[in-house]
Amino acid sequence: MRDKIETLRLCIEPFATKDAAAAFAWFSDPAVMRFIPTGPDRSMGETTQRLVRYIEHQALHGFSKWIVRERASGKPIGDSGLIVLEDPGKIDLGFRFARPSWGQGFATEAGSAWVRAAFIDFGLDRLTAFAHPENLASLRVLQKLHFRSMGRERVMGMDSIILSLSATEFQLLAETPSG
Ligand SMILES: CC(C)(COP(=O)(O)OP(=O)(O)OC[C@H]1O[C@@H](n2cnc3c(N)ncnc32)[C@H](O)[C@@H]1OP(=O)(O)O)[C@@H](O)C(=O)NCCC(=O)NCCS
Repeated sequence: MRDKIETLRLCIEPFATKDAAAAFAWFSDPAVMRFIPTGPDRSMGETTQRLVRYIEHQALHGFSKWIVRERASGKPIGDSGLIVLEDPGKIDLGFRFARPSWGQGFATEAGSAWVRAAFIDFGLDRLTAFAHPENLASLRVLQKLHFRSMGRERVMGMDSIILSLSATEFQLLAETPSG
């Protein structure tokens, strides 16, 4: 089973609990967590608990939210990955980056690598994603990844736009010449 994703600028790997101190930098930032239903982590203990949940999810499903590092420096800058939502059959793609790393195309780079891994390596049929209607950066990234809006729902108590991309759509996009 796959346990590393490398892109031009990023190295994405499963979390270990020793990553808590680095990850607390973005999980505790109210600006990063503004549109995340849980809100910011208030202590490093909360971030450690979060990482333990991701590690357990990894053991159960073979994928999870993973830590994203800059390849050149090895510096942790965010997290991205897939989580099975309680709603049966829904597998959610997410991405979060520390504020200094916004606006450099990292979410699009990590997200598109996860889309490929989801359909090619993990053999999934469909990905979903959700974003608060005011989270324009996230909605733009999902649009660039060819997710389509499926309407509005409340997810974990948060008003959300639900988006989706199927393996068939991904395959058709891969076969469509661009430009
Ligand atoms: C959402 C987030 C992951 C985007 O990360 P990023 O690395 O900056 O994203 P990218 O650089 O790949 O792409 C961002 C796109 O959104 C656009 N964008 C950014 N802010 C925008 C805004 N306020 N309005 C409209 N578009 C916006 C950018 O211009 C870019 O699009 P472009 O390439 O067409 O110019 C980052 O802002 C973040 O971590 N936010 C907090 C966590 C979060 O909300 N995660 C998503 C949960 S659903």
